[in-house]
Amino acid sequence: MKKVVISGTGLFTPSQSISNDELVAAFNQWVQLFNAENAQAIEQGEIEPARESSSEFIVKASGIQSRFVIDKTGILDPKRMVPHIAERSNDEPSVMCQMAVAAAKEAMQRSGRTAADIDGVIVACSNMQRPYPAMAIEVQQELGINGFAFDMNVACSSATFGMQTAVNAIQAGSARSILMVNPEICTGHLNFRDRDSHFIFGDACTAVIFEEAEKATSNCQWEVISSKLVTSFSNNIRNNFGYLNRADETGIGAKDKLFVQEGRKVFKEVCPMVAQIIGEHLAANHIAVEDVKRFWLHQANLNMNLLITRRLLGRDATDSEAPVILDTYANTSSAGSVIALHKYQEDLPSGAYGVLSSFGAGYSVGSVILRKV
Ligand code: COA
Repeated sequence: MKKVVISGTGLFTPSQSISNDELVAAFNQWVQLFNAENAQAIEQGEIEPARESSSEFIVKASGIQSRFVIDKTGILDPKRMVPHIAERSNDEPSVMCQMAVAAAKEAMQRSGRTAADIDGVIVACSNMQRPYPAMAIEVQQELGINGFAFDMNVACSSATFGMQTAVNAIQAGSARSILMVNPEICTGHLNFRDRDSHFIFGDACTAVIFEEAEKATSNCQWEVISSKLVTSFSNNIRNNFGYLNRADETGIGAKDKLFVQEGRKVFKEVCPMVAQIIGEHLAANHIAVEDVKRFWLHQANLNMNLLITRRLLGRDATDSEAPVILDTYANTSSAGSVIALHKYQEDLPSGAYGVLSSFGAGYSVGSVILRKV
């Protein structure tokens, strides 16, 4: 079997960022507007009053301090609370494509690869800007890559599922090198009027170059030792937005056409599942948990990551063992664990093991064991 390496990673971070205090101020203004507009119905007990959010709660419940976003103004306008992203003509690159190209160019530069070296593009993320043509084909066109391109979506686990797909393609001989990108505009599916979740997401895009180990030349490479993917159906993280919405007008604009979750249940069910899957995956590859120098975990909630690493290690992980980026990025869905890899990979020595893991809607869990070349 051909050995496959990650030979370069890239990251696009939007220029705008929203602090918890800014987000909470806008949310609380909306609460006051909502309660004033509905004063009579609230008085008569017909509807519940909206309740204020707080920065203290957000930090305690999630570890998030701020998030990068494509558009700050629209989100912070209490009368709108949706990013402004203007429609573009079909002749202009789409927003997702632009993010993807920026991240891809960095990954290509780091891997020392040009478009001519790459045979396939996978766009793996939670939400595609449109159903077709595939986002990946637009990215392929913008970068001048030959071969094939396709989109895939496994929500927050899209990157790890994309990684296994990329490795499989190279090992099967259908591509010499694959570019996988994860453009996530999570603020587009977030209900900024939902007190339980208005703070959890941000926007970013990551990119990863995979290629045959024996041809790779970059100075920071990670061999993909093994990947393990698991799915188990759950409605606890769900979004009912889709092309059939127009076939029943009664549901258009309803809350379930955006991200909805049972946060507590997700926390309780997903953490033990992830710890068990990573533990079993390492054992199956005869790697002791203590020999793993770094866990690049999905970046949704700090308390989830602390719990998962505590279960695995039997103690608290150090910041170096399980780096945190969700404090400034929030949950960027599939991009999160790859941002952690991108930012925290140079310092480890040759031969060091790391585990990149995603988890989220589906449920879906991915565990990818890497070894520094
Ligand atoms: N501001 C202030 N208080 C808030 C609040 C807010 N924005 N949102 C909820 N609260 C209150 C609740 O009303 C509740 O108080 P009460 O018991 O007096 O009614 C209390 O805080 C606890 O609420 P709860 O929903 O149980 O909070 P939590 O500690 O479970 O944290 C999440 C909520 C969403 C942060 C947490 O469950 C979580 O992160 N789960 C993981 C899900 C996830 O990240 N999924 C992404 C895909 S993997």
